[in-house]
Amino acid sequence: MIAHDLHALGMKGRDFLGLADYTPKEIRQLIDLGIELKKFNQAGEAFRPLAGKTLGMIFEKSSTRTRVSFEVGMYQLGGHALFLSRNDLQIGRGEIISDTAGVLSRYLDGIMIRTFGHQILVDLAQHASIPVINALTDYSHPCQALADYMTVLEHKGRLDGLKIAYIGDGNNMAHSLMIGGAKLGLHVAVASPEGYQPDAGVQEQTRRIAAETGGSLLVTGDAREAIADADVVYTDVWASMGFEEEQKIRERAFADFQVNEELTELAKPDYVFLHCLPAHRGEEVTSGVIDSKHSIIFDEAENRLHAQKAILAALM
Ligand code: CP
Ligand code: NVA
Repeated sequence: MIAHDLHALGMKGRDFLGLADYTPKEIRQLIDLGIELKKFNQAGEAFRPLAGKTLGMIFEKSSTRTRVSFEVGMYQLGGHALFLSRNDLQIGRGEIISDTAGVLSRYLDGIMIRTFGHQILVDLAQHASIPVINALTDYSHPCQALADYMTVLEHKGRLDGLKIAYIGDGNNMAHSLMIGGAKLGLHVAVASPEGYQPDAGVQEQTRRIAAETGGSLLVTGDAREAIADADVVYTDVWASMGFEEEQKIRERAFADFQVNEELTELAKPDYVFLHCLPAHRGEEVTSGVIDSKHSIIFDEAENRLHAQKAILAALM
């Protein structure tokens, strides 16, 4: 039982900025802890290691899952969460991030932030004396990827050696799935149109990690090549938050990258479908796929709660 000795994990006080900062063993420990905490919940057993602790939740972008799962997660762990929207904070009026970090560190025990530029997250972490958790930037979404791999493990019984195909925008979600997948020994295949492929630095980092874990990375412009024999099929919106004005151009660029019934014929017969949500049915995925028996999107969404409780309990 990992939950009974959280200090032994050696993660107290650390930030959670990206999966690259955690070893494969640590990522697996967080997933296993998430699974334990889910069982406590299902058994109605109280587990309150964060009694008396407060998490600040800074949101500069919209959210359904992240806001609710972090707030409920803190409550379930015995602590308290404060929702801090950009409009309510003085950062909305120009207070610098280092002052914000210094001040919040005197009140809170942890900060979760969803923002635009990744550097804002990095600056906040640098100036805060308490753990800072990445709840999505334009560059990455590691809490989601952790919950996703927890969900795959629950459904497939293993992670290493599986093939995950990510079809669509080489965005924050793609980046975190690539790094996390490589850390956990999966074969990651990404299909994106020209001009929308994942960041070159992330590709290189993923290949380096995969070389150590037995995983691999394929980046292609051909969705059929990526999805062939995949155990896990993943997609995300074509225009992420902050890129809405590119919607029309992107609809044209991504026309051949829709996850539909014809494309998923090429995946393994028992493939599972994941989507971080929110989804746009009829764009990146058809209803025929996202609402099919292959889809495990609600287990995936639920696991945000338990995977993040693992992060909170381990770090705070
Ligand atoms: N998947 C995800 O992070 O959802 P929200 O934007 O609703 O938080
Ligand atoms: N790539 C999406 C993920 C939303 C959870 C976005 O950034 O909008």
